Formats: sequence, structure tokens, C-alpha cells
Amino acid sequence: MLAFQSLVQGTVLALSVLQAVAWDSFTAAVYEHSVILPALTDEPPSPDDALALMNKNMDVLEGAIKEAARQGAHIIVTPEDGIYGWRFTREAIYPYLEDIPDPEVNWIPCTDPKRFAPAPVQERLSCMARNNSIYVVANMGDKKLCNSSDPSCPSDGRYQYNTDVYNLFRGETQFNFPKEPETVTFETPFGKFGIFTCFDILFHDPAVVLVSKLQVDTVLFPTAWMNVLPFLTAVEFHSAWAMGMGVNLLSANTHNVGLAMTGSGIYAPDGARAYYYNMKTEDGHLLVAELSSHPCLSPAYPPAVNWSSYVSSVKRFSPNDHDFSGLIFHDRFTFTELTKSEGNLTVCQKDLCCHLSYKMAGKREDEFYVLGAFDGLHVVEGQYYLQICTLLKCKSTDLKSCGQPVEAAQTKFDMFSLSGTFGTDYVFPEVLYSGVHLAPGEFEVSSDGRLISKIGPTKPIVTVTLFGRWYEKDHLKQDPQPPASPCCYHN
Ligand SMILES: *[C@@H]1O[C@H](CO)[C@@H](O)[C@H](O)[C@H]1NC(C)=O
Ligand SMILES: *[C@@H]1O[C@H](CO)[C@@H](O)[C@H](O)[C@H]1NC(C)=O
Ligand SMILES: *[C@@H]1O[C@H](CO)[C@@H](O)[C@H](O)[C@H]1NC(C)=O
Ligand SMILES: *[C@@H]1O[C@H](CO)[C@@H](O)[C@H](O)[C@H]1NC(C)=O
Repeated sequence: MLAFQSLVQGTVLALSVLQAVAWDSFTAAVYEHSVILPALTDEPPSPDDALALMNKNMDVLEGAIKEAARQGAHIIVTPEDGIYGWRFTREAIYPYLEDIPDPEVNWIPCTDPKRFAPAPVQERLSCMARNNSIYVVANMGDKKLCNSSDPSCPSDGRYQYNTDVYNLFRGETQFNFPKEPETVTFETPFGKFGIFTCFDILFHDPAVVLVSKLQVDTVLFPTAWMNVLPFLTAVEFHSAWAMGMGVNLLSANTHNVGLAMTGSGIYAPDGARAYYYNMKTEDGHLLVAELSSHPCLSPAYPPAVNWSSYVSSVKRFSPNDHDFSGLIFHDRFTFTELTKSEGNLTVCQKDLCCHLSYKMAGKREDEFYVLGAFDGLHVVEGQYYLQICTLLKCKSTDLKSCGQPVEAAQTKFDMFSLSGTFGTDYVFPEVLYSGVHLAPGEFEVSSDGRLISKIGPTKPIVTVTLFGRWYEKDHLKQDPQPPASPCCYHN
């Protein structure tokens, strides 16, 4: 994360003049940026060419920052890789990096640019923050020289960091892992803030630590997130994480339709305040919305959830002889079909049983839905233990298609109630409507652990999911996948 604290210092001065007392609410902005990318080459550009490209991106970010400030925003988050993109070898990214001093160093690059020069990017961002009296969150790479006195110093004599990133996504070979995970927090007149980046959101450190231990009110989340249906599309998963963790989340995604990168939002614990998803054009987009400074003190704050309370009172709903299995993003789920227009169903896998009560407005012949359960270690593109209960629409009327990505549906539901025998408290509630729409205000998680519709859902449902993460089991050895049952498709 770019020298955030020094930018903060730049703006704290301006803000403290405005108001010295604590605020109940504040205005947040996120900008989804369509990054201007460098030419695709393994050769490092000259420092001047690198800076010229970064200035082009900063011209766009500056427009967004000025507009956010004009609309009264106090803080703006811009995306991961928003200043130069992501297409680099270790050598080719080097001219884009700056040495970013420790946040403890009290430095305002805008007013004292020579102190850690050359740092033209930090200087310009710092001035944008200062001139517009707004906190600016930007992401860029850091370089730190090292030598043979440090046995883990890379052979080219420098560490390159995606600064605060602890969980680098596979393929981010231009960067090194930090030796220790860092947690970054800071106080403002409108609450305590924490930062992490992209893939971090799936893990305990630093994401859960910031919320559970350090008790931040709002998380700042620059990301370059490639959407994966049915559970890991940006707006869906990030809004669910904010609700499950009970914090505000300001998520700024990079925009690149070809790579399925889109989906930014301003999320509160009781639902999305604003979000953006656009797979049609390459436009960037600014979102501005008001949030509570301390969401846990607000009347809308959802109650604490006991995930075992409701399920301990339910026996397995009607036995079903027609369970079958299918893959979702490399994980083998157990499914059962919703054959009627209303009913109560249970499906189990290992220790997880999922219960669903539902009523459709009408059962369509051309759309199939299933209830699915998964309890196991996910091992592709990262290793993490999942417990998932899901109601989802199958891609076609062939049950073999269940679990494949689908984003449109026509089946309306009158109600749903989904619960599961989770072994973890970290369960993220997702509701996704047709066309990748969220459903703010239309569902809730009751204190006894049911994800329920509050009103008749206003759009057809693509998925209703309880996405559980069991962090303590992430480092277990992979257990054998349950065998696929060979003859259970009943069509
Ligand atoms: C900030 O304001 C100063 C003086 O008002 C101006 O010289 C400078 O170009 C501005 N910088 C930015 C990044 O807006
Ligand atoms: C390189 O090593 C020497 C000691 O051999 C140390 O004093 C110096 O700070 C090191 N330089 C860097 C950049 O780590
Ligand atoms: C959660 O509910 C279960 C079942 O009703 C109960 O046994 C347990 O004590 C509850 N846990 C907490 C922390 O209240
Ligand atoms: C489902 O269960 C609820 C309560 O447990 C019951 O009121 C309802 O009639 C059941 N619906 C069906 C279709 O069996």
C-alpha cells in the first residue's frame, strides 16, 4: 500500500481544521479504474516512460478524486495495480517502483518532496490528497535494497513488495512475500480503519485479525479481482464478507472486461450502500455513499449469530434418494434437486448438513435449481478450508451442468430460508439475483443462524449461499475427495 500514512498526515492537518470531534457518519468514495496498461514486453521501460504512463493513470485518478471531494467524500479508495497495471516480469516492473518509507516516518511528500526523493508518484498522490482535503488510498509497489548480509536477499539485490500484501495470488512473481504479515490500521475522526489487498480477503491473516482483534470499523480494500461465479464474484463475495464480519468495506476493483475484472462497492454490515458491475464497456466509475463511522453502534447493525442454534432444533428434512455430485470451481459438492415449487430439503456432506425451506412463485420447466453442500479443503489457486451451503440455478436442464457459472435466471421465489451445521463462526451470506445484482435490504441473517428473505425477492435468484471459512483447517493435509457417484443423475 502506498505510503498511506504519509498521505494521511498530509490530510489530517486539513481535516483537523474542519472538525475536532468524532463524527457519527462519513462519506466514502471508491473509484473503479480502467487502468491504462504499458505495452506488453519483458524489457523494463526507461524511468521517464514508466513515469509518463503512471502520470496518465494518475490524471484519471485525479479527476475521480476531485469529483469525490466535490461530492463531499472524506476518503477515496483506488484499485490495486491502478497506477501501472499487472503485466510484468520482476525486471520490467522495477522502473515503476518507489522506496516507500515506513509509515512511522512522519513524511508529507507534497510539502517535503526531496526528503526521500526520487518519489514523484508519492509526491503527486500526496498533493492530490492535500489539495482536495481527502484521504487517498492508492496501491503501488515498494522496493527495498538488500545485500548478502541478509541470507534471503534475492539475487538482484532488492525486495519488491506489493506493499502490504500478505497473501499474494499465484503468478504474482514480480513481488516477494513479506517475512511477517503486517497489519495496518489508523485512527480518523470517523472511526478506526484497516487495510488489506485482494486475495487477503480469503484468509485469517491479516483480514480477520484486523476486525476481530484490532476492531477496525472500516476496511479499505484495493483489489484487482477476477470474477468467478457462483460464489466468488467481486460484488457478491465482498458484500457478504462485510456482512459476515460486521464491518464497512470500501472495495475498489480494477476494471478490465477482458479479464472479468469489475465490481466495486461501498458495503455496510446490513447491506450494500452502492455498487458497480459492468461487463459491457471499459468505463471507470465513481461511487459515493454515506456510512456510519462506528457501524456496531448503529441501530441497523445485525445481531450476533449463533450458527448452531436453529439447526440444532431441526431433524434432517425429508430423506432424499437422489443426491448426486458435481464440481464447483474444482470442489466436489453433493447436490439435491428442488423438484417441487415449494418444500423443505436437506443435503449433507461429511459434517455439514444444509437445510433449505423455499417457495417459488412458480416452477418453470426450463430452469433447474439444486441445494448443495461442500465440506472440505479447496486446493486450486490457494489452499483454504470451506464449508458451503448453497441454493443455485443450474446452467441448463442437464443436471451435469449444476455448479457451472450462470448469471441469468427467470425463476422468482416467494421466500427462502437456508441454514447449515457449520463448524466455524466465519460464514458469509451471499444473495445474488439475475444479472449479477445484489439484494440489499431484501434478506438478513437471523440470530439463530438462518439466511432468510425479508420480503419476497424482487428479482429471479441465481444463488443464495452461506460461504463458510474454517481457517484453523487451512493447513491440514488434503483428504481424499468423496468419490463421484456414477449413476445418480436422474434424467
Ligand atoms: C496542489 O495545489 C498547488 C497550489 O495550489 C498546485 O501548485 C499543485 O499543482 C496542486 N497539485 C495537485 C496534485 O493538485
Ligand atoms: C549491506 O550490508 C552492510 C553490512 O555488511 C550493512 O551495514 C548495510 O546496511 C547493508 N545494506 C543494505 C542496503 O541492506
Ligand atoms: C448456540 O446455540 C446452541 C444450540 O441452541 C447452544 O447450545 C449454544 O450454547 C449457543 N452458543 C452460544 C455461544 O450462545
Ligand atoms: C416445510 O416446513 C415448514 C415448517 O417446518 C412447514 O410449515 C411447511 O408446511 C413445510 N413445507 C412443505 C412443502 O413441506
